[in-house]
Amino acid sequence: MSHELDVETLFDEWAIEDGAVDMAREHWARVEPVLSALESSEGRYLEIGPGNGYALEYIARSKFAKGYVRAVELSQEMANMSATRVQDLDNVDIDVGSFLSWHAPAGMQFDLIFSMEVFYYFEDIAAAIEKAARLLAPGGELIVMVDYYEESEDSRDWSQELGVKLTRWPQNRYLDAFKAAGLQSVKQEIKSGGVQEFGLTVCTRGRKPSKPVHD
Ligand SMILES: C[S@@+](CC[C@H](N)C(=O)[O-])C[C@H]1O[C@@H](n2cnc3c(N)ncnc32)[C@H](O)[C@@H]1O
Repeated sequence: MSHELDVETLFDEWAIEDGAVDMAREHWARVEPVLSALESSEGRYLEIGPGNGYALEYIARSKFAKGYVRAVELSQEMANMSATRVQDLDNVDIDVGSFLSWHAPAGMQFDLIFSMEVFYYFEDIAAAIEKAARLLAPGGELIVMVDYYEESEDSRDWSQELGVKLTRWPQNRYLDAFKAAGLQSVKQEIKSGGVQEFGLTVCTRGRKPSKPVHD
């Protein structure tokens, strides 16, 4: 089986088993302070790997209620759950497939690209960061949150436990990759919270320059 098929199967099963509600509740405790601090926007939001769609729904109903919301999710079952949450809204589109091979509609750029607990499922994290950075509108922001990284003792055995290959970067490599992708004001913060969620979440964020940068 290919790596992406392994990951897809894992999350299809997860969604069918319990709707990923426990995972969503634990993640929301760490995501909520980040998303609730955002300004409301009439622009475009992209979420990579929304899972059961808890953050997507929040964004679509509040911060980007007057904007446009799109998501790309590898697992059909997770995508179905996300779609159910926002079925009454007309400002949301969800695509099923891998972000790495996904094509944004021609000319579409995003003012915010967000992802929680997804990027270490990519075999090539740098390629995913570069792709996300390219999809940002001038002045747009990329926010990537992960619990699985080299300094995190609590997550050390996840790859074995889940039975899928995960990419374990040190925290600094996320910072470096954001900068290498041309993003500015790159910073990291640590988030905790949740009842069962052990370890800490690293949140890396950076902005595409408002004007093109020349050497
Ligand atoms: C650990 S779950 C996190 C889900 C959600 N963001 C959350 O915070 O609960 C990882 C999600 O990323 C999705 N995913 C993994 N690889 C992906 C890829 N290449 N493209 C798009 N989504 C992907 C999985 O299907 C799954 O829904």
